[in-house]
Amino acid sequence: MEDRHDEVRLEGGNVGGAVRVGATVRRPVGPWTPAVHALLGHLAGRLSRIPAVLGHDDQGREILSYLPGRVVDVNTEQLSLGQIDSLVRWTRSLHAAVAGFSHPGPWRYFPVAHATLIGHNDIAPYNVCFDGDELAGVFDWDLAGPSTPLLELAFIAWNCVPLWCDIGAKDAAERLEAIADAYGGPDASAILLAVPARIQAMLDWILVAAAAGDEGMANLMKAGEPDRSASSLKGLVERIPAISRLLACLRLRRASGSSPGGHRPGRATRRCGRRGFC
Ligand SMILES: Nc1ncnc2c1ncn2[C@@H]1O[C@H](COP(=O)(O)OP(=O)(O)O)[C@@H](O)[C@H]1O
Ligand SMILES: [Mg+2]
Repeated sequence: MEDRHDEVRLEGGNVGGAVRVGATVRRPVGPWTPAVHALLGHLAGRLSRIPAVLGHDDQGREILSYLPGRVVDVNTEQLSLGQIDSLVRWTRSLHAAVAGFSHPGPWRYFPVAHATLIGHNDIAPYNVCFDGDELAGVFDWDLAGPSTPLLELAFIAWNCVPLWCDIGAKDAAERLEAIADAYGGPDASAILLAVPARIQAMLDWILVAAAAGDEGMANLMKAGEPDRSASSLKGLVERIPAISRLLACLRLRRASGSSPGGHRPGRATRRCGRRGFC
């Protein structure tokens, strides 16, 4: 395909980066790209808000369709509860749509014990865009691979509650409940308790992948990982008991009928102003 438009660097990526060319996006490829394209091909027609694979350009980059929408800047904003609800409901649709899909890989993502499905594995504000409260697009599928719903939800919680900074135990508990409600699967406590191992596995893998020559992971290291997130994770581990206690209270209140349950879209909470991965 010929490039007839100027390239515009897209902000918000620290791994491989992406550029926009007209209605398309160009991204570097890796050994995992055939598996990712097979996944996107399987999902086309089964799931909305995903990029279409349009081939490769004369520089060997993948060509994807551009997904219009607003990317929330995690340095200055939090997702609204409505946005969390839409994102997690979409995740549930993704997990339904991948049923029956398998691929021998190679996948870029690290091996996961007892994987039950192919997940996106990098669902975070910097990899999605919105139209108001509605999820409009999900990009950056390079970490897709064998996973589980709980691991996917744990990563969503880390990024979208968010748990990598202290927003206050009460707000964190309520936003975890919103994630659990929207997915309708593991409860909020199970999601919270799955976060440390999920994040630690990722941090360990960044070092291993960078040492093995994965340029994107070397770029993440230049941006301060895994040290930055290791320090955030330490903070979360200290806050988990307080958040867990509040989740237990919320559960009791719900069981006794004194709480309406469910989330309250649109309510804003305290911001923390520092980004996670990319
Ligand atoms: N298909 C797409 N449609 C619209 N914007 C995109 C698309 N792919 C990427 N972007 C934008 O480019 C940014 C960086 O792209 P991404 O694929 O996440 O790169 P990285 O691998 O470096 O994280 C994203 O945060 C998003 O804003
Ligand atoms: Mg990205």
